[in-house]
Amino acid sequence: MNTPHQPTLIPGLPRILHGGDYNPEQWLATPGIYADDRRLRRLSGCNVFSVGIFAWSHLEPEEGRFDFSWLDRVMDDLAADGCRAILATPSAARPPWLGKKYPETAQVTRAGVREPYQGRHNFCWSSPIYREKVREIVTRLAERYAHHPALGLWHVSNELAGTYGNGECFCPLCLARWRDWLRDKYKTIEALNEAWWSGFWSHRFNDWDEINPADPTLDATALDWIRFVNWQIQDWYQFEAGILRPITPHIPITTNFMGPHPYIDYAALAQWVDVVADDQYPMLYHGKPRLDDSALCTAFKHDLQRCYKPNQPFMLMESCPETPQWGRIMPLKHEGLHRAEAFQAIGHGAEGVCYFQWRKGRGGLEKFHGAVVDHAGHENTRTFRMIRELSADFEKVAAAIGTRRQGQVALLYDHDSRLAIGLSNGIPNGSSRYLETAQDHYRSYWRRGVAVDVFDSRRDFSSYRIVIAPMLFLLHPGVADRLKAYVHDGGTLVATYYTGVVDPTNRCLLGGLPGGGLMELFGLWHEETDQLESEEARRIIAEPGQDGLLPRQATAIRFAGIVHPSGAEVLARYATGPELTSGQPAITRFRFGQGTAWYFAAEFDRPSLDCLHGAVLARAGVEPPIIGLLPPGVSIQERSGPQGRFLFAQNFTANPCKLDLRAPQDWQPLVASGPGWLLPPYSATVWTKP
Ligand code: GAL
Repeated sequence: MNTPHQPTLIPGLPRILHGGDYNPEQWLATPGIYADDRRLRRLSGCNVFSVGIFAWSHLEPEEGRFDFSWLDRVMDDLAADGCRAILATPSAARPPWLGKKYPETAQVTRAGVREPYQGRHNFCWSSPIYREKVREIVTRLAERYAHHPALGLWHVSNELAGTYGNGECFCPLCLARWRDWLRDKYKTIEALNEAWWSGFWSHRFNDWDEINPADPTLDATALDWIRFVNWQIQDWYQFEAGILRPITPHIPITTNFMGPHPYIDYAALAQWVDVVADDQYPMLYHGKPRLDDSALCTAFKHDLQRCYKPNQPFMLMESCPETPQWGRIMPLKHEGLHRAEAFQAIGHGAEGVCYFQWRKGRGGLEKFHGAVVDHAGHENTRTFRMIRELSADFEKVAAAIGTRRQGQVALLYDHDSRLAIGLSNGIPNGSSRYLETAQDHYRSYWRRGVAVDVFDSRRDFSSYRIVIAPMLFLLHPGVADRLKAYVHDGGTLVATYYTGVVDPTNRCLLGGLPGGGLMELFGLWHEETDQLESEEARRIIAEPGQDGLLPRQATAIRFAGIVHPSGAEVLARYATGPELTSGQPAITRFRFGQGTAWYFAAEFDRPSLDCLHGAVLARAGVEPPIIGLLPPGVSIQERSGPQGRFLFAQNFTANPCKLDLRAPQDWQPLVASGPGWLLPPYSATVWTKP
């Protein structure tokens, strides 16, 4: 990490950050609104406002003519109102004059076409003139507000590589950088040919300029191209942060992420930011049939992002207090669901919940996007009242600031495995299947209230009681050996079909699966994988003596592997039938050194996974904090530190639920919703004890 450790999100401000994106520049012609904003923000209890994100055409209305007067006033008034500014650099959206005079600042599409001036998030990473223009305005902003009392946090640009083409730019400058990046990585074209298996379809290259990144023939090209685009994104972030840092070394810098993105490697980008900040839109609507899945996916994402910087808090830079405008339909969001969403984030380690947006604009694509302040313009709205109450509740949980969440279970989630699966023809729903599989395994721990740390396999996992590695498809150097050492020294590892299939350039590992020496760790050889139609399921039966391992109706779905044990104990088999898997081992366990390596040869349905992971926990001696399983959609988290323990619970379902804790003694309610351990529908509760 090159960045200082952040004990609180904003140095010296021990409060849960609560506020939102604020665009006063859009209201300069209506001073009454500005005055109202001040009144309403005091009333709301909000304490941070993100300003300037898309304000370039107000900050520099014409090339070289700057106007900071309106922002001076906003910053002064924020400080006077006891609030802090999350001040943005405006690079995400170019003003029209800039697009017109410097068309080369726009990205070039895959088809080789330069984008016209439009939208946002579509600037070229390599354009020297764009860098010059950004440097100038960012320098002015930083110098002007360096010592302003309102300045709390820098917000670099907005959702880097956001709405447009995943940040890909195919202009000549970006392609030249791509070739430099390749040269730097491979040194010789022969080494690249070897790593890319370029003999396929006669793609052996003689020169770097023969490589077309848009050619899908070699999946290694596509994989490296995405890595290169990620390098561009990180390089851009470092460029902007590099302007700010020397001028304001005392102010932390961040940029807003977009969840577990299929393309952007946030684990890598996170190493450059001071604070992990995410934009979260889980579409939690009353009556939505899969509210529990939304809550699960959000929990998984929180634990992934928390682990980017495990010793400090993260924050939601954006979320929506009501409903966004971009859904197919826009059902209203129950205020209880918003509270549950907000406290879920805090329970997972966040110390800030902010919104897009403070006030609804009058025009533009987002005029109907949910906000704290509605077009009605006053405080007597359902949403405003709820936000006000939430601010008061956040003051109560400020006591939890500085406490941390720590798992005994690690789940390895590799962006590179996700990319490699997605780019390898032959695995249905590749990239999203990888994420969903990780979430399915995570879910069995989530439903037991067991904290899981989610992180990349290149990180140290040696201290965990249990390591889950679903579909660890791509093996980074050294990972197989570290997995072996972990189990050898007493660890419990759970792995699945599609483990150790390819090397870092997506070439298949030779000699049998799981590759890279892992057959020895699991005591088996995985020969083949049958893929099942969506309506197909294969029954799995526990071996005699394995009572409780599986539910009565355990089934394999989607992927059914055929393995040959060479020492591993068979715990369950496919039922006999006409299929090739008939009677074959489906779940095995191997004692390797002092530890245990479980192998799930098939994908299992959720009840089977719940049961299986219960067995894994029990045999590893890890006791969940609750008895049995929480109903899907009910979630608990604990944070602890020198100041005490804090237990958070949310009910994302329409039914009341009673928590059944193993040790319910001494917990006192801090933010109460129901009596005792009762969680009313759509609710959030917090308890504490010393
Ligand atoms: C985010 C973006 C915001 C706003 C919001 C709408 O992705 O950062 O500027 O567009 O979506 O939901």
